[in-house]
Amino acid sequence: MKETITVIDNRTGKTYELPVTHGTIRAMDLRQIKSGDDDFGLMSYDPAFMNTASCTSRITYIDGDKGILRYRGYPIEQLAEKSTYLEVAYLILNGDLPNSAQLEEWESNVKLHTMVHENIKKFMEGFHYDAHPMGMFISTVAALSTYFSDAKRINDPLSRRAQIIRLVAKMPTIAAYTYRHSIGRPYAYPDNDLGYNANFLSMMFKMTEQKYHANPVLERALDVLFILHADHEQNCSANAMRSVGSSNSDPYSATAAAAAALYGPLHGGANEEVLRMLVQIGSKDKVPEFIKRVRAGETKLMGFGHRVYKNYDPRAKIIKQTADAVFEVTGKNPLLDLALELERIALEEDYFITRKLYPNVDFYSGLIYQALGIPTDMFPVMFAIPRTSGWLAQWEEMMTDPEKKIVRPRQVYLGAKQRDYVSLEKRK
Ligand code: CMC
Repeated sequence: MKETITVIDNRTGKTYELPVTHGTIRAMDLRQIKSGDDDFGLMSYDPAFMNTASCTSRITYIDGDKGILRYRGYPIEQLAEKSTYLEVAYLILNGDLPNSAQLEEWESNVKLHTMVHENIKKFMEGFHYDAHPMGMFISTVAALSTYFSDAKRINDPLSRRAQIIRLVAKMPTIAAYTYRHSIGRPYAYPDNDLGYNANFLSMMFKMTEQKYHANPVLERALDVLFILHADHEQNCSANAMRSVGSSNSDPYSATAAAAAALYGPLHGGANEEVLRMLVQIGSKDKVPEFIKRVRAGETKLMGFGHRVYKNYDPRAKIIKQTADAVFEVTGKNPLLDLALELERIALEEDYFITRKLYPNVDFYSGLIYQALGIPTDMFPVMFAIPRTSGWLAQWEEMMTDPEKKIVRPRQVYLGAKQRDYVSLEKRK
């Protein structure tokens, strides 16, 4: 079979043969198609990237119709069952699972960098008492770039490596500080005797005790949630990471931009919105009324729908199982029954069936976070901690891609034609 496609331009009658590689044509190959000598050349128009591949990647594979998610080829179900977040972060960043020496070195490197400069605490103290934790998180990550001037050496693989370790290591610390700030408690320093998640829980909840002991079931649940959130190929925030990183800005600035993209309620802010929606609905008997409003286009069912998954989101399935394990320890979250009823009714509704809308990762994650004692406005931050490894893997892949260039889309200009300046007194 010939791997080309023939295009006939009906404006000129000319024929063009374009190569097809990996099921795509190069948008630049369209440029040669011109209606006349002064024509710029054909472009593709694709707002919101509905059908445009912006890069090649070897990190994450998704088959949205079959509900498949794999990191570096490994099915998410196996990783969630058998792996740990730090091991998965290594996998995503390096291409394969570590052997025991590599894992030990990676874990100890991350532990070495959990502290943040004392001035970061002062910086964070400047936020208002009720500042949203995600706003604090984004700004603090951006501020980190001012502490590590070597991060500007983005073409030096060793420098990139150092910043990756720092970022993965410091995210839980910054996240926990945003929480401590919001409730007026002193910031708890990292405890490097503890693993990644146990240390995070310690920094969140430690009071005056010498050592914080997290419940192992809850610690493991957090690990599973972190694994599920680690990467998701070219989503809105990964795209922001690549786009900002493509201008050769340092990885702290690019990560802050990615976190800002994640904050939106259509992306990582959806987990927070789901919880608020459930509280607003209030009880199971109000579900039909709420669904009616969704059908009428008055509101969205948050935590439902996905650009890529049109069957089910495999992460939502795993999260449901994790929720059961957590609720055995914490007692059932009273909102669970409401969420289950909402899902049941929605999945029977024509509106959702025809649009292929299913629960996504954010539908149940908030119920677990809430059971862990994490407040609702911290949920997007909980998403950002593990997604940092994914963003950095996307960034590293882009930085080493021979096709890397500054991201700069084209536009279709529909504005005013040239016109002459009108002085103020002559304007209507
Ligand atoms: N509730 C009600 N209707 C919906 C929903 C929803 N949650 N999601 C999509 N639709 C409708 C949408 O109105 C449209 O209807 P119509 O064809 O009549 O105009 C149709 O389904 C197709 O939706 P779309 O908005 O064109 O799909 P998209 O791919 O542009 O958007 C999405 C994907 C995730 C932004 C969207 O489904 C949504 O807003 N969901 C709620 C927010 C949410 O849960 N986000 C988390 C996504 S998963 C975590 C992550 O990785 O970010």
